[in-house]
Amino acid sequence: MSLFIGLMSGTSLDGVDGVLAELDPGARGPNAMRVLAYRQAGFPDELRARLLRLNSRGDDELHHAALAANALVRIYAEVVDALLRQSTLIPAQVRAIGAHGQTVRHRPQEFDGTGYTLQLMNGALLAELSGIDVVCDLRSRDVAAGGQGAPLVPALHDALFAMPGEDVAVLNLGGIGNLTLLPAEGVVRGFDCGPGNALMDLWSQRHQGHAYDAQGRWAATGQIVMPLLQRLLSEPFLRRVPPKSTGRDLFNAAWLDTALQDMATTVATADVQATLAEFSARAAADALKLHAPRTRRLLVCGGGAFNDHLMQRLATHLPDMVVASSALAGVPPLQVEALAFAWLAQAFVSRQPGNLPAVTGARGPRVLGAFYPAS
Ligand SMILES: Nc1ncnc2c1ncn2[C@@H]1O[C@H](COP(=O)(O)OP(=O)(O)OP(=O)(O)O)[C@@H](O)[C@H]1O
Ligand SMILES: [Mg+2]
Repeated sequence: MSLFIGLMSGTSLDGVDGVLAELDPGARGPNAMRVLAYRQAGFPDELRARLLRLNSRGDDELHHAALAANALVRIYAEVVDALLRQSTLIPAQVRAIGAHGQTVRHRPQEFDGTGYTLQLMNGALLAELSGIDVVCDLRSRDVAAGGQGAPLVPALHDALFAMPGEDVAVLNLGGIGNLTLLPAEGVVRGFDCGPGNALMDLWSQRHQGHAYDAQGRWAATGQIVMPLLQRLLSEPFLRRVPPKSTGRDLFNAAWLDTALQDMATTVATADVQATLAEFSARAAADALKLHAPRTRRLLVCGGGAFNDHLMQRLATHLPDMVVASSALAGVPPLQVEALAFAWLAQAFVSRQPGNLPAVTGARGPRVLGAFYPAS
């Protein structure tokens, strides 16, 4: 057993989730890993705005990206420090940090055929500030091998949540939604299935001044607008055959505004929110029914698991399945992704592949990550 730290900051741009975990290489089931400490740090508004700006074309991007990567890593380092203090450990006792960085562009297999995925991150600075080995840039090798570079969490979902004799699925509702299919027999599959929280968050921010719609209470006051829902569901990405992944490159304010402009009449803001929640629920539920109709249990992780309205809509569309938070299977929703990056750091240090080619579409299993030694 060795100790690893996993740091995840996802497309929601809400902040960083960090776990310190004891991992047993190769072991399966909830006992194979033990979370010793969890820490969350929100992004200051100014950093969130800078990172959001870097998601689209802008002026002097290289300069702004480099400085944003430094600012991000200073927050990562504070989380590492807090995790160590919380568990009275010193840096030398931690084998490695797996740090995701901040995705600002995700365009695998595009342009020149290889494309790229870009997670802002200054691994050298994190190694310098933390005194711990850092593994980062965990997606690029999979993209180089012809894959999507995403999702990377299915391998951990499999190790944690697969159940003998039962088809299980895991839905991570971060900024983007991604599904992992864990059949009782057969290979693990996984893919991005739709927008998760990203569109609901931006609408809530724009019209309510809140970073997100707490528990989905605002959405619950609105009516679903069918023509708008149909318009959203007509997005070709939803019909694309996996492997597939997406990000803010697609599901962003411009995308939503174009759909709204296509409506014959103005839609009330609460009704838009209700329709966006329905869109996220339908995108996930429809994909699950299409790709894994025999699933009996859907575990939901990511911050969307706290959106009671969204969880209810999912359950409504999946009447034959038990829909429950990952907490019921032993791991709180915000710890799952962070734990995945601790797990990927562990895979890197033992030179084990971290990707599942059946999920990402890569030409084969690959050791994922770039390494910045502590000393
Ligand atoms: N109490 C809550 N009610 C409703 N939504 C919530 C609540 N708490 C968190 N969320 C949603 O969860 C989001 C954050 O989730 P999470 O951190 O899993 O996403 P992420 O950072 O985008 O991660 P990733 O992209 O890796 O999945 C918030 O932006 C918000 O939309
Ligand atoms: Mg987050």
